[in-house]
Amino acid sequence: MQSSGSYASKRVYIETFGCQMNENDSDRVRSLLTSIGYVETQVPENSELILLNTCTVRDKAEQKVYSLLGRFRKLKSERPSLVIAVLGCVAQQQGVELLKRVPFLDMVVGPQNLHRLGDLIETVKDGSERVVATEQSETIEADEYTAPASVDGPKAFVPIMRGCNNFCSYCIVPYTRGREVSRGAAEIVGEISGMVFRGVKEVTLIGQNVNSYAPFRPRETEPYTDFAGLLEEVACIDGLERIRFVTSHPKDISKRLIRLFGSEPKIVSSLHLPVQSGSDRILELMGRGYTASEYLSKVKLLKNASRGISLSSDIIVGFPGETDKDFAATMALIEEVRYDNLFSFKYSPRPGTRAALFEEQVEAEVASERLQILQKRQREISAENSMALKGSYIEVLVEGPSKGDSEEKSGRTPCNRVVNFSDLPDFNVEVGDLVELLITDVYPNSLRGTYHERGLLCS
Ligand code: 5AD
Ligand code: SF4
Repeated sequence: MQSSGSYASKRVYIETFGCQMNENDSDRVRSLLTSIGYVETQVPENSELILLNTCTVRDKAEQKVYSLLGRFRKLKSERPSLVIAVLGCVAQQQGVELLKRVPFLDMVVGPQNLHRLGDLIETVKDGSERVVATEQSETIEADEYTAPASVDGPKAFVPIMRGCNNFCSYCIVPYTRGREVSRGAAEIVGEISGMVFRGVKEVTLIGQNVNSYAPFRPRETEPYTDFAGLLEEVACIDGLERIRFVTSHPKDISKRLIRLFGSEPKIVSSLHLPVQSGSDRILELMGRGYTASEYLSKVKLLKNASRGISLSSDIIVGFPGETDKDFAATMALIEEVRYDNLFSFKYSPRPGTRAALFEEQVEAEVASERLQILQKRQREISAENSMALKGSYIEVLVEGPSKGDSEEKSGRTPCNRVVNFSDLPDFNVEVGDLVELLITDVYPNSLRGTYHERGLLCS
């Protein structure tokens, strides 16, 4: 890594699109750039370096990047020393084509090359060269995770693997993020232990498909760890209170893992388990590897293992060939599961994926109408689930002052709902404390809680 002198007091503007992996990649880029003398600015006009960390999972996200780049063209022509880079999945997918399409762009850097950013900036900064860094490797390079995301508050995200081997027919991720590669368990546990030392109480393990976590073992004698084993190791970290993980693939979620929801108190009773569709015919065309009833039996096991578990999901409507009957099956599935939270999308054909070539693409208006019907019903179910929390005691991790009223505190339940509450004069509740609150009011986006005689859990 270069000395900080050559970059002193340079400002970087970073904009991030897309998933939790991208957010985490941007955090690591922040740490790396801080270590070489950059400070972050929220104003692109004031910066010497502009980074757009991009997403290509749906066309809309990709188009946003092009319109933003259009805005930066003027800045670059006024100030040619400004360095502009596209990072992430659009960079990986477009590669050199992006440099051709955007003549004022300096760098195109795929998700597996972000740790090289310091050197790449050096290469382009005098304006004589433009670079494309999109090499993919089948192993995790030793220095890929040397700039961990900075820790700010009691919650942190830790990548445990990257890539995806599933090639669902609609999805571009296996092409942009490459094949699955897992980090070693000892390295992950070491990183989390360091975070706990700096005040972290809750960790979210992230990866495109965490259930197929399988670290490379250079020698057969090394112990075999699967995802449930990793969770058990992470749960042993003293001082860590809550463990979450995302994203789980329904076909890979094991019975051993489901049992952990009942037996390991640090694993929060909340799971994102994307179903994508309730129709077996569509699930088959998507290449998901399970039927609706197989999915529902896993949901049943989860609900039995952990009473009141909070479930969320992703659903795509308007997948090629989706009929009214297929859509009705999706509606029936959400009635049966009763998710707390649903992320639903209109199908967006992605270049290079199998589904983009399927005939019978669904008309845009039909897909929009289905999306509206699904979202309306889900809003009702979410509200009904929230109302059921009124009058119950819930453990809340205190995160800081409430957004609406700085006199009040705010935290999150195990199912990730925001709870606002006022401090008690006798208890000085601090960020990172776990408190048990009585839920007194339910609003569309938050809950209101109060201390009751059951009082403080721990601090
Ligand atoms: N069109 C619409 N939604 C998609 N997703 C992935 N690919 C597509 C696509 N081509 C959704 C899936 C996935 C979530 C992250 O994005 O629901 O779970
Ligand atoms: Fe995409 Fe399917 Fe992999 Fe998820 S599991 S990232 S939807 S290919």
